[in-house]
Amino acid sequence: MPATGTSTPHIKPDGAPIAETILLPGDPLRAKFIAETFLEDAVQFNSVRNMYGYTGTYRGRELSVMGTGMGIPSIALYSWELIHVFGCTKLVRVGSCGGLSGDLDLGDLVLAQAASTDSNYLAQFDLPGTWAPTGSFRLLDHVYRAAGERGLTAHAGNVFSSDTFYHAQEDTAQRWAKMGVLAVEMETVGLYANAAAAGVEALAVFTVSDNLVTHAQMTPEERQTGFANMIELAATVTEL
Ligand code: ADE
Repeated sequence: MPATGTSTPHIKPDGAPIAETILLPGDPLRAKFIAETFLEDAVQFNSVRNMYGYTGTYRGRELSVMGTGMGIPSIALYSWELIHVFGCTKLVRVGSCGGLSGDLDLGDLVLAQAASTDSNYLAQFDLPGTWAPTGSFRLLDHVYRAAGERGLTAHAGNVFSSDTFYHAQEDTAQRWAKMGVLAVEMETVGLYANAAAAGVEALAVFTVSDNLVTHAQMTPEERQTGFANMIELAATVTEL
């Protein structure tokens, strides 16, 4: 892994390396936790705006992890720089989502096949129609199989990347649910669009932390266990 001599407005590695495969939690403190808990020989490569990033090895394979912040603009700018300036080619968002189907239990995994959105992010690509950004089938297939081998329940489907956590219209969740969308979150469409436009691979993996149909919510302890399972699963992409 070459040392990273270059920098961007948001990422200043100061000579530390960045791996081609990177896990992207929203919360930078989660990135720190992942580095401390799952990586070996981790070195920090970013602290600009406290958006911590680390590189180390996972079971002998190079792996980086970095926070992205919340929302499409935030993940979009970090993923753009990671792809275009630092050469990342496998980007895996790890986060939580709100279930839009009564079939999703708390702690279940959701793998985003595609991302629908109420954001205007896709307009910049100026396509003559409505684009449906999708995740990498290779990454999705690998993680889906790995979940099965571990006895974890994983659902693959469409997610709704929303610009709003608090929706002005009460039936927002129901309207997306009616179209078969599995879950709501706030970043994936930006990541998938950037990855597709650049010809690299991306995947978003979530644990269901709340359910907008059943109104169930995870406790902080449940969140922690679910999170650990998801990280180990997402890190299997280093095998590819
Ligand atoms: N992430 C986890 N739960 C969510 C929700 N209900 N809405 C948006 N993002 C989420």
